[in-house]
Amino acid sequence: MTKKTAKETIAIQTKLVMPNDTNPMETLFGGQLMAWMDELASISAFRHSGRICVTASINNVSFDHPIISGDFVTLEAKVSRAFKSSMEIFVDVSVEDADRNITKCNEAIFVFVALDENKKPIQIPELVPETELEKKRYDSALRRKQLSLVLAGRMKPSEATELQSLFE
Ligand SMILES: CC(C)(COP(=O)(O)OP(=O)(O)OC[C@H]1O[C@@H](n2cnc3c(N)ncnc32)[C@H](O)[C@@H]1OP(=O)(O)O)[C@@H](O)C(=O)NCCC(=O)NCCS
Repeated sequence: MTKKTAKETIAIQTKLVMPNDTNPMETLFGGQLMAWMDELASISAFRHSGRICVTASINNVSFDHPIISGDFVTLEAKVSRAFKSSMEIFVDVSVEDADRNITKCNEAIFVFVALDENKKPIQIPELVPETELEKKRYDSALRRKQLSLVLAGRMKPSEATELQSLFE
């Protein structure tokens, strides 16, 4: 199976925040942003695996900066590591205001699983990180995978070797 670089998995989208995307505080509704991030992450997952992929877990979402109606929001999704059938995807979000100031405002970490024709998990290619940030995210991905599996009740804490090493 041909390895893919992280760069090959990038998916980028820019959205104009409309009034009907906002909450009663007139800032972007978090659920709307989640939907945009999930959709873009699935495109990145497809670019890596060439398969239909489903969201298995959303491991971290931070809303660090309010986004208002009229802002341009740019989302960038990129696979940070591929395992057997699952992949971790970072979505980085930045906002451009009317004065063209660009601010990083959100980050989310998704896990997608590639499925075969029978909707069963299927082997995917390895991912090759190239930049310093890609290597940092790649190296820490196994720890996040184990934490996610423990929280989902899919792994015993005693089997989470990467997490235990944090406390040794
Ligand atoms: C995700 C799903 C495909 C996993 O299927 P499964 O039969 O349980 O398969 P497995 O236990 O072999 O898990 C497959 C992979 O997913 C990973 N995985 C499953 N749940 C996970 C979680 N909560 N966090 C991180 N990884 C997870 C496993 O570690 C495994 O990864 P690997 O093959 O890379 O080692 C299945 O649970 C599913 O279809 N869920 C619904 C997905 C969906 O509908 N999403 C849209 C939400 S509305």
